[in-house]
Amino acid sequence: RVPEPSVVIIFGASGDLTKRKLLPALFHLEQQGLLPQEFAIVGVARRDLKSSFAPDMRDGILKFGGVKEGENKLDEFIARISYHAMEFDNDDGYSKLRDLLDKIDEKHGKKCNRLFYLAVAPEYFADIVNHLGAHSMAQPEAGHARVIIEKPFGHDLESARQLNDDVNKVFDENQIFRIDHYLGKETVQNILVFRFANGIFEPIWNRNYIDHVQITAAESIGIEGRGPFYEKAGALRDVVQNHMMELLSFVAMEPPVSFEADAVRGEKVKVWKAIKPIPIENTARGQYAAGTVDGQQVKGYREEERVDPQSRTETFAAVKLEIENWRWAGVPFYLRAGKRMAKRATEITIQFKQPPMLLFSGASGGPCKEIQPNIITMRIQPDEGISLRFGAKFPSPDMTVCPVVMDFKYAGAFGSSSANGYERLLLDAMLGDATLFAHRDGVESTWALYTPILEKWQKTPPSDFPNYASGSWGPDCANELIGRDGRKWKKV
Ligand code: BG6
Repeated sequence: RVPEPSVVIIFGASGDLTKRKLLPALFHLEQQGLLPQEFAIVGVARRDLKSSFAPDMRDGILKFGGVKEGENKLDEFIARISYHAMEFDNDDGYSKLRDLLDKIDEKHGKKCNRLFYLAVAPEYFADIVNHLGAHSMAQPEAGHARVIIEKPFGHDLESARQLNDDVNKVFDENQIFRIDHYLGKETVQNILVFRFANGIFEPIWNRNYIDHVQITAAESIGIEGRGPFYEKAGALRDVVQNHMMELLSFVAMEPPVSFEADAVRGEKVKVWKAIKPIPIENTARGQYAAGTVDGQQVKGYREEERVDPQSRTETFAAVKLEIENWRWAGVPFYLRAGKRMAKRATEITIQFKQPPMLLFSGASGGPCKEIQPNIITMRIQPDEGISLRFGAKFPSPDMTVCPVVMDFKYAGAFGSSSANGYERLLLDAMLGDATLFAHRDGVESTWALYTPILEKWQKTPPSDFPNYASGSWGPDCANELIGRDGRKWKKV
């Protein structure tokens, strides 16, 4: 489906996200014929970038979008871009923005839908939304106004509630698109397809057959110059409360009655609300020291630019969650996320229970020594795919077993894709489809879960930071967390 005539207005357009992700994503939509004829992009930021903005975006598309110079439609696409410099608290700036949007409508000969994308620091969200309301841009007489709000959506439960209240005063809930780019990833959406479009997995997707679930989001990069942001965020706020909880909800939710926004989001919220309050013993945190990643010597977190040399911010977090519902009671979910880990890998591991009685023994030596439980691994990224580990008879005169793997790889089956998650989400927002966006209740329920942990961590400063070397698999306390239950993190 192609959206109705639209203008995408990006606040904070001079930031990295616009150049690296948003513009390449929009251009990919253009290449696939998924943008309307009447389409424009307006970058909004404080700096006066009028003449350099469009060429800079062109560079970004070439560099980060896997696009080659001279590629079809590139010049027409760049011609759709304009720039508007303004302070985010300045009324005059908003009046002029409205005039610019009206002119774009005139040029197109119709009222275009307006999608305001807030890619700014969170402290500006409420202010911008208020001004859009005050300058009649939230509800133009014709056409839809919608707003996409980037994460972090709040800093804790209270601030998330406040932000929801502020935004809801100006926009109706169905105009608000709280973005979590993980939901735009093919491999994440495929969790639902894997579970609900196949007959064989769902019958065993429960406490009777599953021993436990692990979700790992390991990054080899550090904080990439985002010191001031990361100092206030930390791993729990940056990825666990949002991206990882989205992954968990797709793994754990009940089948929705349809793939409509309310049905899907309703099931996700039920999962989050069923999670028991997390005791502090079921958490672990870490901070990276200097070390070697991909053969390169890298500095420790406290030596990063614009980071407090005594910083207590965690760059690694792990939690054990228990979902108290009919399907999952007694099945722990272990989550871990960290920067500067040994490699980049986001994976979900579903470990099944062993058969009630073991008739066979492991073949001697190596990985065959012990009988291994069945495991389904969903590789979200990189090397996207899904594998199933099972035991096979080891060729020998004995009845011994060795683990083997059946593997599905996206690249082999479908070819590799340059989609970055934002593509699908921008398209959905233009179409008004909120299925893959966070809902007010959802955001508040995940914050409700993690705010007490953040408060406790704040009150009890870690005594051992930094406690893991860059290029390792995180601090010992994370191994102890899962080790107490007689389990181990799966090697990724
Ligand atoms: C962002 C976080 O939301 O997600 C970053 O702020 C993190 O710190 C990034 O690196 C990870 O996204 P992806 O798509 O690279 O896994």
